[in-house]
Amino acid sequence: MTDATSALSTLSVPRLFSLAGQTVIVVGGGRGIGASVVLGCLEGGANIFVLDLLPEPDKNDWPPAKATAEKNGLKLNYGVADVTNEESLKMGFQTIFDSIDESSAPLRGLVVTAGVPIPISGLELEYDQWKRGIDVNLNGSFLSCQIFAKEWINRNPKVNSSDPDSPLASIVLTSSIHGQGFNRQVPGPSYGSAKAAIKHLASILGAEWGARAIRVNSISPGLIVTSTMRQNYIPTHPEYVDNMTKFTAIKRVADASELKAPVVFLLSKGSSFVTGTDLVIDGGHLAS
Ligand SMILES: NC(=O)c1ccc[n+]([C@@H]2O[C@H](COP(=O)([O-])OP(=O)(O)OC[C@H]3O[C@@H](n4cnc5c(N)ncnc54)[C@H](O)[C@@H]3O)[C@@H](O)[C@H]2O)c1
Repeated sequence: MTDATSALSTLSVPRLFSLAGQTVIVVGGGRGIGASVVLGCLEGGANIFVLDLLPEPDKNDWPPAKATAEKNGLKLNYGVADVTNEESLKMGFQTIFDSIDESSAPLRGLVVTAGVPIPISGLELEYDQWKRGIDVNLNGSFLSCQIFAKEWINRNPKVNSSDPDSPLASIVLTSSIHGQGFNRQVPGPSYGSAKAAIKHLASILGAEWGARAIRVNSISPGLIVTSTMRQNYIPTHPEYVDNMTKFTAIKRVADASELKAPVVFLLSKGSSFVTGTDLVIDGGHLAS
């Protein structure tokens, strides 16, 4: 213990939650949960760079983020990259690294929401489908973390993680309730195994990289209704939402907007001592 009061300990709750003066990269932010996270980070005051496979961000999900960035004078940049292609992902990150202004908004955060569901049961699953679920969801998460962490260490070689006021980076990965155990509503050993591994990856990288002042956590959402799901999936599978509601303690499913605050919390100074954990955001989904 030292006698000096840390600046961190004097911050009020709104300032602990603020992302002002930071740059956050969102991989998979072109649509759905990722676009909602982008909006939340902009509302928190961060500059945002997005990487996504889509040639352009989704026309339904992107306008609120664009309007918020314009209103608050924040950067919102979009680039195309494939998390399953090392060269593409490294190039995408490098373009971002080259344009971050460290003097006004240093690099502080990474959120990975890029993912694909592979809702095919074990006997029907082709080997290529198995590998795709692992590649996009797990390998893409790992590679994004590694590229980000190397850059962070390069930019902050002498950071002292035992000093509560030293700069701190935060990575948030996206697992799922499918990573918590078997989900009877949707089959999928590839997706579920990848999501379980992502949770574990966050705990391992959190332990490995803590001394380099990088925190790593994951979130495990339950069913989150996105605009894509509202348009393309729910109309043809209404029973899915009904079943998920039935097996959820809070008797409803969530909207993508409900992930903004948890992710902003994990990126913010308010969670400075939180690393290697998985935050389950599923309304109390009961073992189904
Ligand atoms: N929606 C849910 O109910 C739910 C629940 C739990 C976890 N999740 C997870 O949350 C994340 C976001 O889900 P969503 O519902 O918003 O899905 P979504 O399909 O709307 O968004 C996923 C985004 O990832 C991008 N992406 C996919 N493959 C990519 C690749 N190879 N390289 C780069 N980007 C790629 C897509 O283009 C898209 O923008 C996923 O990881 C998903 O597994 C979703």
